[in-house]
Amino acid sequence: MSARLAAPGYHLKGVRRGRASPEAGIMKIFLDTASLAEIREAATLGVVDGITTNPSLLAKEKGDPEEILVEICKTIDGPISGEVVATDAEGMVREGRHLASLHKNIVVKCPCTTEGLKATKVLTAEGKRVNMTLIFSAPQALLAAKAGARFVSPFVGRLDDIATPGMELVSDIIQIFDHYDFDCEVLAASLRGPMHVLEAARMGADIGTMPTSVFQALVKHPLTDIGLKKFLDDWEKTKATLVAKAAR
Ligand code: E4P
Repeated sequence: MSARLAAPGYHLKGVRRGRASPEAGIMKIFLDTASLAEIREAATLGVVDGITTNPSLLAKEKGDPEEILVEICKTIDGPISGEVVATDAEGMVREGRHLASLHKNIVVKCPCTTEGLKATKVLTAEGKRVNMTLIFSAPQALLAAKAGARFVSPFVGRLDDIATPGMELVSDIIQIFDHYDFDCEVLAASLRGPMHVLEAARMGADIGTMPTSVFQALVKHPLTDIGLKKFLDDWEKTKATLVAKAAR
């Protein structure tokens, strides 16, 4: 982590709270998966707010991708990203309209290219929500927000993979968006571990999307398991003492 990010209070201004959407009081948790089994299991915890899929994630699953997307929408009542695969604006708009027609929860994911920006402008003018994906620079996020994107997805892990601090991009985008009145949420994507999630929350990212394994790791702490075991062992001993006393 850079010294800039480590500085206490950095980006803890709190001005983002309630700005982007009425429910933006706490960082939303999205799962980055197209696995219905994983999504159904995670949904039981009641803290998953949305899902991001992409063509690679859908390609890993058996079954019709559109049917999977609809099932995901029925499982999680929140924004569910489905990505276009056309690379020209006209094709993206056509696919985006179709994806959005599948279910009210669908958010159309468009890549941050010139064609993607053109498509975003058209789709958002029609009232469709767009998640502009594959964001690797702050100017890309600025353009996406200007084109009307409802979400921008900076890819943290993929920048880290090429020795570029991905969290700094999230921080930069938040700083820029805090100056303006964009109705665009910062969706920290490609999060690879609990520390990424923690840093995204410290910066005030609106949303963090993560694989199920990272989500599960968030709840785990060995001291919780040790502490719970001790409480239960002590309780069993107390019960045994009480039963022995009652039998006298
Ligand atoms: C988000 O929308 C992307 O699907 C995702 O976060 C990419 O993550 P990866 O870089 O781990 O594949």
